[in-house]
Amino acid sequence: MIEYLNQFLTACLVFTCMLSFCRADNTKVLDLPEPRTTAGRPLMEVLRDRKSTREFIQKEIPLQVLSDMLWAAWGVNRPESGKRTAPSAVNWQEIDVYVASARGLHRYDAFEHRLIEILSDDVRELTGMQDFVKEAPVNLIFVADYSRMGNRPQRDKDFYSAADAGFISQNVYLFCASEGLGTVVRGAVDRDKLAKKMRLSSEQKIILAQSVGYPAD
Ligand SMILES: Cc1cc2nc3c(=O)[nH]c(=O)nc-3n(C[C@H](O)[C@H](O)[C@H](O)COP(=O)(O)O)c2cc1C
Repeated sequence: MIEYLNQFLTACLVFTCMLSFCRADNTKVLDLPEPRTTAGRPLMEVLRDRKSTREFIQKEIPLQVLSDMLWAAWGVNRPESGKRTAPSAVNWQEIDVYVASARGLHRYDAFEHRLIEILSDDVRELTGMQDFVKEAPVNLIFVADYSRMGNRPQRDKDFYSAADAGFISQNVYLFCASEGLGTVVRGAVDRDKLAKKMRLSSEQKIILAQSVGYPAD
């Protein structure tokens, strides 16, 4: 009897896990653990240690650390207004952060603090033109959606989305310095090739990529 009860409870648990991973429209979502928003080293120490790193060891970033990093990068820090950890011009919030890892390509949904699967393929190599890119456990891609930026001329959209992505990138730099992770922001990206693989629309522009991993030194 106890054995049947155990089997039943295990089946219920597996079913619940599947529900949290697969939505009704079959989109796979990965709920991230609550970010640890009171963690981290003192700001001045972190600024002292901030730097670019281009050599990584083969060690995965734990899900909790990824969760903390994405929240630090571009999470919602004021739920009452829906505002974020980085500023954005006119509060357009036009940047989406994509996460390329061995698990596939995901889009960070900051409002639900979860990852939405876009592709199950490992596209890390396509996110840059330097050899270390395919070795880095995570490559972030900052994509601006120009359709959220009103009727501004193209040059304004280019300028503001580049500035807005820069703030997010710096949040990642500071988080990494605090956490003992290495990172480098990258403009050298074959944008046409990557955009095609990511199936981006003509209004979505790849601004920058950023590799993250545990440093070799
Ligand atoms: C907008 C931007 C684009 C960059 N593009 C690349 C790149 O494509 N590849 C790379 O290895 N580093 C890139 N970097 C990193 C710089 O080379 C690095 O920040 C600079 O050498 C100073 O080093 P530090 O970050 O350690 O202070 C970029 C930095 C910025 C701000």
